[in-house]
Amino acid sequence: MMARPRLLDLFCCAGGAGAGYHAAGFDVTGVDITDQPRYPYEFIRADALSLDPSFITSFDAIHASPPCQAYSVTAKRTGNGGAWPRLIEPVRKMLERSGLPYVIENVPGAPLRNPIVLCGTMFPGLRVIRHRLFETNWTVQAPLHHAPHPLCHTLDRRKNHFGCTNEWRDFVQVTGGGNCSVAAARDAMQAPWMSKPELNEAIPPAYAEFIGRSLLRVIRQTPEPVIVNA
Ligand SMILES: C[S@@+](CC[C@H](N)C(=O)[O-])C[C@H]1O[C@@H](n2cnc3c(N)ncnc32)[C@H](O)[C@@H]1O
Repeated sequence: MMARPRLLDLFCCAGGAGAGYHAAGFDVTGVDITDQPRYPYEFIRADALSLDPSFITSFDAIHASPPCQAYSVTAKRTGNGGAWPRLIEPVRKMLERSGLPYVIENVPGAPLRNPIVLCGTMFPGLRVIRHRLFETNWTVQAPLHHAPHPLCHTLDRRKNHFGCTNEWRDFVQVTGGGNCSVAAARDAMQAPWMSKPELNEAIPPAYAEFIGRSLLRVIRQTPEPVIVNA
């Protein structure tokens, strides 16, 4: 049997991305600057930008999810994006230097190059509206169908549809304020081990599994399947 390739999961938090790559077939090692007691795989506490280049190139591929606060819609609205470090550019330089296939994930508005956008509506089983961008240094074909967003569950009494939705049946949004219980957010994102602050930071594992399957084909040099619209 072919060995599982090794993926370095930078800025790993509690492992939303890591769990997806693991499901796709990778052995995963996470790096985060703060302790991550719920990270499910091998974990190293370190500054991702200070890693030894020979450690980085001991892996087969790299994923990086640098903090998004500097690029977020909130930062743009409040004009305080400058209060947060802009890590995408130095991270990209580091990944390019490695010569490995890489993925940089971030929020809409972040300065990623030719990213694809993934949304919870593209994945059967997910019930979360959460757009995330993925830059890769190989070609990934995004799912062709981005369905119109369904009505999201709300706890806000001012909304017209308050009381008409169900957090266990309908789509939710997982944000700082939140519009559903933690249990429903875990179910909607398919990340049952995470705390609420971790869910707020995470991508649904299904997104990384999708990217990871394409990455695996690059590493194993097998052709991409043609995606046919449903
Ligand atoms: C958006 S979260 C990553 C979410 C993760 N990809 C997931 O899907 O669960 C960003 C993480 O970057 C970490 N972080 C911030 N600066 C860092 C640095 N210089 N080196 C390593 N990790 C860092 C934060 O502690 C946080 O956990």
